[in-house]
Amino acid sequence: MSELITDIGELTTHGEERTRLHDAALVIDGARIAWIGSAGDAPAADTRTSVGGRAVLPGWVDSHSHLVFAGTRDAEFEARMAGRRYEAGGIASTVAATRTAPEARLRETATALRHEAELQGTTFLETKTGYGLDVESELRSARVAASVADTVSFLGAHVVPPGIDRRDYLDLVTGPMLSAVAPHVQWIDAFCEVGAFDVEESREVLLAGRAAGLGLRLHGNQLGFSGGVALAVELGCASVDHCNHLDSRDIDALASSATIATLLPACDLSTREKLAPGRELLDAGVGIALASNCNPGSSYTTSMPFCVAVAVLQMGLSVDEAVWAATRGGARALDRDTGPDALGALRVGGRADLQVLDAPSVVHLAYRPGVPLTAAVWRRGIRTPPSQPAF
Ligand code: NIG
Repeated sequence: MSELITDIGELTTHGEERTRLHDAALVIDGARIAWIGSAGDAPAADTRTSVGGRAVLPGWVDSHSHLVFAGTRDAEFEARMAGRRYEAGGIASTVAATRTAPEARLRETATALRHEAELQGTTFLETKTGYGLDVESELRSARVAASVADTVSFLGAHVVPPGIDRRDYLDLVTGPMLSAVAPHVQWIDAFCEVGAFDVEESREVLLAGRAAGLGLRLHGNQLGFSGGVALAVELGCASVDHCNHLDSRDIDALASSATIATLLPACDLSTREKLAPGRELLDAGVGIALASNCNPGSSYTTSMPFCVAVAVLQMGLSVDEAVWAATRGGARALDRDTGPDALGALRVGGRADLQVLDAPSVVHLAYRPGVPLTAAVWRRGIRTPPSQPAF
């Protein structure tokens, strides 16, 4: 079954074309894109959808989220807005709520958040474990995550939970916990930060994950100069996430590596942390991604459009740079930038993951911040949710 999407006022492909195309059309055949070109040259297809001059772009690739949790932390948020600093320790309260929640409820919450993200244009989503922190609870989290997200990271090394010796916990994470979750996850992650894990501990965890066949990613330099960025580059992590506090050595190391710096602007605002230096990183030649970091503690939003708007308005990125970082940047951070199942770009033969904005241009993502502009979403060629109205 093929579908012609036509009357595209502005088409951002992030594929072969470097500029936004105008008066464009594309054909979806099954789960893939079969044709891209001028609306006037479009071939016939089984069905035809006119988007009436709206902008079309790749679906967002959200490469950092923590959707498997129970409970909220609004009181902690309120205290923070009254001046208290964000600390890694708050994670323990979500761990307590998550451990006692039934698996079905965890799945329900995570599914609702995934759905919320999709309605805002997210077509590919990573999520993490990390609020279970014992073998059984991490396994439950990994199962839920795998049923809800497109790719899953094991974050047993989020914090050391109360009631267990630090060394014993590291042995658990790198031993029985890792073995239990490994069939459900593709990545290993660690929170390399004061109050969580230091560089040596994070290295131990990541190397255990690598030995189990997992890809590597790391939370680093969120609250201070944790050494996480240097470690991520040393180990060849696909991504190091947060990157708020960077010195020139960190930036040089990232620039000469393939490790993507994943920036989390909604988290920076919600924790009142110094914004990650997006402009400086791009100017130094560092590959960056933008992600939501949806979680109940530091960034309770699924909105990639919000992250794009903040990156433009507050981090000094151009609209095209921010959109690129939230699509192809995310693909790179997940090692999914090439190959037949590459993400984050619209190319003939590639995945039909795309969104239509209720606006003539992607510029409106920053020009009209906070306005819900997602008009329609196709994921693997299927309009989702199918009940969306016609244009
Ligand atoms: O990426 N930084 C570590 N983990 C999450 C926050 C978790 C929490 O506070 O619950 C993050 O921001």
